This record gives sequence, structure tokens and C-alpha cells, in this order.
Amino acid sequence: MWGVALTAMVVVGITHWLYRWWNPKCNGNLPPGSMGWPLLGETLHFFAPNPTWDTPPFVKERIKRYGSIFRTSLVGRPVVVSTDSDLNYIIFQQEGQLFQSWYPDSFTEVFGRQNVGSLHGYMYKYLKNMVLYLFGPESLKKMLHEVEHVAAINLQKWAAQDSVELKEATANMIFDLTAKKLISYDPEKSSENLRENFVAFIQGLISFPLDIPGTAYHKCLEGRRKAMTMLKSMLEERRAKPREVKSDFFDYLLEELERGDSILTEAIALDLMFVLLFASFETTSLAITVAVKLLKENPRVLQALTEEHESILRNRENTESGLTWKEYKSMTFTFQLINETVRLANIVPGVFRKALKDIKFKDYTIPAGWAVMVCPPAVHLNPDNYKDPLEFNPWRWERMDQKGASKNFMAFGGGMRFCVGTDFTKLQMAVFLHCLVTKYRWRLVGGGEIVRTPGLQFPNGFHVEITEKDDTDTNPRQ
Ligand code: HEM
Repeated sequence: MWGVALTAMVVVGITHWLYRWWNPKCNGNLPPGSMGWPLLGETLHFFAPNPTWDTPPFVKERIKRYGSIFRTSLVGRPVVVSTDSDLNYIIFQQEGQLFQSWYPDSFTEVFGRQNVGSLHGYMYKYLKNMVLYLFGPESLKKMLHEVEHVAAINLQKWAAQDSVELKEATANMIFDLTAKKLISYDPEKSSENLRENFVAFIQGLISFPLDIPGTAYHKCLEGRRKAMTMLKSMLEERRAKPREVKSDFFDYLLEELERGDSILTEAIALDLMFVLLFASFETTSLAITVAVKLLKENPRVLQALTEEHESILRNRENTESGLTWKEYKSMTFTFQLINETVRLANIVPGVFRKALKDIKFKDYTIPAGWAVMVCPPAVHLNPDNYKDPLEFNPWRWERMDQKGASKNFMAFGGGMRFCVGTDFTKLQMAVFLHCLVTKYRWRLVGGGEIVRTPGLQFPNGFHVEITEKDDTDTNPRQ
């Protein structure tokens, strides 16, 4: 008798739970969509590999079925996906009011619970100002020569090799430069390899968050643990032996930490360091590799880019004198090309937020507490926003604002949380391309295919043979 009653209760409980899973509570009309399998939701579909530049099939199919806003469930959370320009705009502009930066637990585990993306209000503004100081225009002006020097010597080194895997090579190049700026890290002088801990990071980060040995996510967490131990001991070392002349970000952080009234804590400082190291090299190296791939596939674009950079050299008294800030700022076509590259690359395939209260938009209500994912690829590859969206056409930017974000351009996010590294990335890309197209030609010798899961990857790398141009080399079409 009791057994029957207990079974009935369990069945009723599970049925009710299933009913709630498929029909979540809402004080209004939920956006249409499906919550998928219990617990798993539609996670597996979301992570299914896609070998094209185009909007992920997961998103495309649902836009067709449900329209530009739909609901789903990813990694155990109910999520509203927005591909609607107006809603995206509200999401970015209403940061801290209606929405708040939020990333799935898997991200927070990897980046740290106190990383800049998870902080809000005063603490967030304080950190952002600190980062802007480091990557703002005055610091970048001072960095220009170093960025050019590093690009030039690396290209020279790669040209002496049979071939180079460009994604990894540029990632190393940028990592070393950023680590030097942030913590005066010199791989030649250190007994441990800091960079090694960041390997396979992007695959792990935007993959299924299963923390068991063998998975990309597990490797990613291991890497974080080791990198954090190294960063902590470097900070300790510096604290024990402070330097006379303060010159890097560690010095700056230590000064802040030592000030009695500072709101900064050591944990926040270390999480920030970790995020900056990761964000700076992984994103920019992907963007450079995508640009080099697209340039090779579009000789007319390569020609226009080469002309812009050769004319900088032609107009200079001494071609060897190095780039000036004025020359850098004059690279109009290059900046168009960078925007076009990041529009197609969609390096950040989803920007996450949490609804702070019930939010009414058009006929729908997004319930308080739900996650919201802005989907940049769906905006950047929508033919209503960009004619022939899969075409690599830097000239389309001639008529568009190129600096900040807009309703139709959010490769670097938007609103208050617009990427603090945008100018740094543009500097690295423009200077690297300058050094590449003025002195070298290259050909693909292996790999080069892309896949999105939904993070962008080159599964077989991007292997190129780089050769110095000679005097007969005036036509980049060859
Ligand atoms: C092609 C290169 C890059 C792309 C496509 C990119 C993209 C983005 C996007 C879309 C966001 C917004 C995230 C959000 O709103 O939740 C963001 C934020 C951020 N980016 Fe970048 N980024 C790039 C390079 C960099 C670099 C070089 C750095 C480091 C210097 C960096 C550091 C950051 C940080 C710290 C944030 C968080 C800011 C916040 O929460 O307010 N990014 N980035």
C-alpha cells in the first residue's frame, strides 16, 4: 500500500518536474522555442561542429522556426537567444539596470569567480579604468615600436623555416609581448613555461563543460590551476623584492594592494591578470590568422592592402625608420579590413547576460533570472544588415562607422562592457599586416580549414610558407 503511494508520489513529482521543464513559469508570454531534453536541454545541438563562416545551424534553424528571439536550454540553464537588433541594443545599453553580465558556471570556473566579467558596479568601473590605463591610447602609442619590432623579428624567423603554423606562432608572439608588459615575464629566463598552461584554452572554454580527464574542459581547468599558481608566486616574489622603477602592471597592482584604503584584493588582481593574458593573445591570434587566410583567398583585397602599406613606405624619407603613430592612424583600408575580418570571424559567438527583472519586449516576456544570449554571428551574417554577408568585402566599411559598436556590429560587444582590448587588438593586427605585406609573400602548405563548436578553430592548423619578396615581386596575386 505504502509502496504504491510512494511510487505514485514519485511519478507525480517527476511528471510535474517534466511539465515545468517544458513549460517554464512566466508572468506573460515566453518567447517561442523548445527546452529540449530534461537537464541536457539543447546543449548538444548548440555545440555541434559547423565547418562554415555562416551563422551556426542551431541558431539559423530556430530563427526560421521561431523568429529572431527564441528560448532554449543550454548547459542546464534556461536561455533566451536574441538575434534581434533592437533587443540586443537594449541588452547592451541596460547593463546593470535590466540586464547584468553573466556567464555560465563553466566560464566562471575557468576565468575565476572574481574575474572582471563577473564584477559589477563600483568594483567593475575601478578595474575597467585600470585596464584602460594599460591598453589606452597613451600606452599604445608607447608600445607601437615594440609591437613592430616583435612582428618584424618573428616574421624574419618564420621566413627562415620551411613552414610555420600561424595561429600558434602569432599566439606565442602576442602572449610573450603581453606577458612582458603585464608582469615582465621572460620565457627565456623563467624555469616554468607560463604559456603552456593556456594551450587548448579556447576549445575548452567554448566546449561541453565536462570536468573529467581527457576532455578539453578538464585540460582547460588544469591549465588555469597551474597558471594561477605561477602568477601567485610571481606576485609574491615581486612583493618580497619591490622594484625601484615601477614599470609593469604587477608594480601597479602591488602599489594599489599596499594602499590601505584600496578596494582591490589579491584574488581580484590575480583573476584580472589571468583574464587579460588569455583575452589578449587568443582572440588576436585568431583574428590575424583569419585575416591572412581571407587575404590569400581574395587577391584583390590583398592588393589594395599592400598598396596602402607600400605607399606609407614610399612617402617616408627613410623606409627603415619604423612606423609613426600618424602613419598607423592613416591606415584607413587596414581598419576596414580588420572590421570585416572580425565581422566574419565572430570570435565571440555569444555574449551572455542575466535578466535582473521580468522584461517585456514586443509580445514576449523574459523572466527575471533567465540567461540571455546575444548572438553576434546572426547579426553580422544577416543579409538585411550586410549585403552578401559571406563575402569578404572590406570596402563595405567605407560608408559605415568603424570605431565603436552599433546595432549591426558587435564583434567587440557593446555598451558599458565594450571590449577594453579593442584598440590593442587593432594595433597588433595592423602592425603585423604592415610588416607582412610590405616584405613577405606566403602560401598555404597545410590545414587552413575552419570549424566552429561554436568557438572558431583551425582543427588542422594554418600552415604557411613565408618567403621574403624580391624586387620582381610587385604583384600580390602570385
Ligand atoms: C579580436 C579580438 C577581440 C575580440 C573579438 C573581443 C571581443 C570581446 C567581446 C565581444 C567582449 C564583450 C563581452 C561581454 O559583453 O560580455 C569583450 C570584452 C572584454 N575583452 Fe575583448 N575582444 C578581443 C580582444 C581583447 C584583448 C586583446 C583584450 C585584452 C587586452 C581583451 C579584453 C577584454 C576584457 C577584459 C573584456 C571584459 C570587459 C567587461 O566585462 O567589461 N579583449 N571582448
